[in-house]
Amino acid sequence: MPTDTKLPTDQLQRIANDLRDDWHTGRAVDFEEAVAFHESLPKRKRFAGVLESADAPLLQPRAGVPCLEDQIDLLRYLQEEGSADLLPTTIDSYTRDNQYEKAEEGLAASRNGEADELNGFPAVNHGVEDCRRLVRALEAPIEVRHGTPDARLLAMVTLAGGFQSFEGGPISYNIPYTKRHDLATTIEHWQFVDRLCGAYTERGVTINREPFGPLTGTLVPPCIAIAVMLIEGKLAATQGVRSVTLGYGQVGNLVQDVAALRALRKLGEQYLPDAVTVTTVFHEWMGGFPPDEARANGVISLGGATAAVAKPDKVITKSAQEFQGVPTKEANAAGLRTTRQLIDMMIEQDIDLGGIDDEQRLIERATTALIETIERAGNGDVAQGVIAAFDSGEMDVPFAPSDAAAGAVLPARDDDGRVRIFNFADLALPDEIKQIHKAKLGERAQTEGRDQSFRMVADDVDAISDGKLIGRPSGYRGGVSDAD
Ligand code: 5AD
Repeated sequence: MPTDTKLPTDQLQRIANDLRDDWHTGRAVDFEEAVAFHESLPKRKRFAGVLESADAPLLQPRAGVPCLEDQIDLLRYLQEEGSADLLPTTIDSYTRDNQYEKAEEGLAASRNGEADELNGFPAVNHGVEDCRRLVRALEAPIEVRHGTPDARLLAMVTLAGGFQSFEGGPISYNIPYTKRHDLATTIEHWQFVDRLCGAYTERGVTINREPFGPLTGTLVPPCIAIAVMLIEGKLAATQGVRSVTLGYGQVGNLVQDVAALRALRKLGEQYLPDAVTVTTVFHEWMGGFPPDEARANGVISLGGATAAVAKPDKVITKSAQEFQGVPTKEANAAGLRTTRQLIDMMIEQDIDLGGIDDEQRLIERATTALIETIERAGNGDVAQGVIAAFDSGEMDVPFAPSDAAAGAVLPARDDDGRVRIFNFADLALPDEIKQIHKAKLGERAQTEGRDQSFRMVADDVDAISDGKLIGRPSGYRGGVSDAD
């Protein structure tokens, strides 16, 4: 059972040595030589420095194709035609599952054929030197974006390959991404990843870490997402990470999204050690998108508008082709430009929205209650506490496929479209907060003339792809109008 303590150097080295044999590219990893490579990089390619010194939200897409030359072309395109400030390399699904043999077959087939046979860039198979070619070829800093529960070898290879930011975490890359990994094991695996990032950081090569805020991407109540971010940030800090970007996924209610991003930043700064520089990232809508590209652009634009008001340090953009899967490079760059247009038009406006402070207070109280429960469950140790709290259901994530979470909490939107909790199950929130959620959902039920039921939850899950925010019953005509 892991505890929230720093992994000793000899253990870090022992695990790293064992991992070298998982795939042959692991043997080319040489830490000292990797530090020298990072030191050779110009300032504009240093992820933490660029992100932490920015004076407006930086934009970053997702993008990954199997072959190195194609990945270079794709990222150059997003840099030039999309004006991406930060670049990604999205890793393929076989690598996320540690199936390097299959990734190798897919890479070979992609090299030989017309079509891409992998849904991302298999960085472990490419190895250290190809990662460095990529880093050398681009002008902006690049992050490894993935979804890998056991990302230890991926981190070894990509960090040695010159990447300076690494997405994911033990909870956020377990709960939404896998069924079978238990939390104790993923925490141990990510302690290694964080300790490795910490080892580079101690040598003056700051590696940025970004826990995955959207979790299941489906109506996640802000307090749950923020609590996971704080725990993952704390676990990373213990291992020596000094640059942490806490994430949050757009829920679509402007006031709630702005309040949540402010709460995320405030609680992050309060809860993480002073030595850590905390930044925030806002993910444009991660749920189902409308198939109509014109409508999808509306969803993206609302994300851009939200970012202009909330001013996170970074925005992960979507494309209008989200409905059909991985976007073309043109659509991907267009998603960046659409977002940029909204931010540039709105960021200097002094926009005063009613209700943000109250919503932020509610989010902070609920998040604090979850964190206190986790700390109590572990007698002060958050690694033990988070395992115990997920086990008992006191901590939970809605729609979680993983056996590590009960997945019994159910969210629904209130009459204003804010995400509330419809079924708390064992989630450890105080009664007064539960009453507020219940009352808000009661108002909606009354507006719609129906009982609160699972139907409401299901309607809300589909609402945005159907062109609405709130899953109202068919025939319902909302909004007050004084024009006939
Ligand atoms: N390139 C671009 N986007 C990708 N996504 C997943 N893989 C890739 C890729 N290789 C995006 C999906 C979705 C999000 C979860 O990740 O389109 O928006």
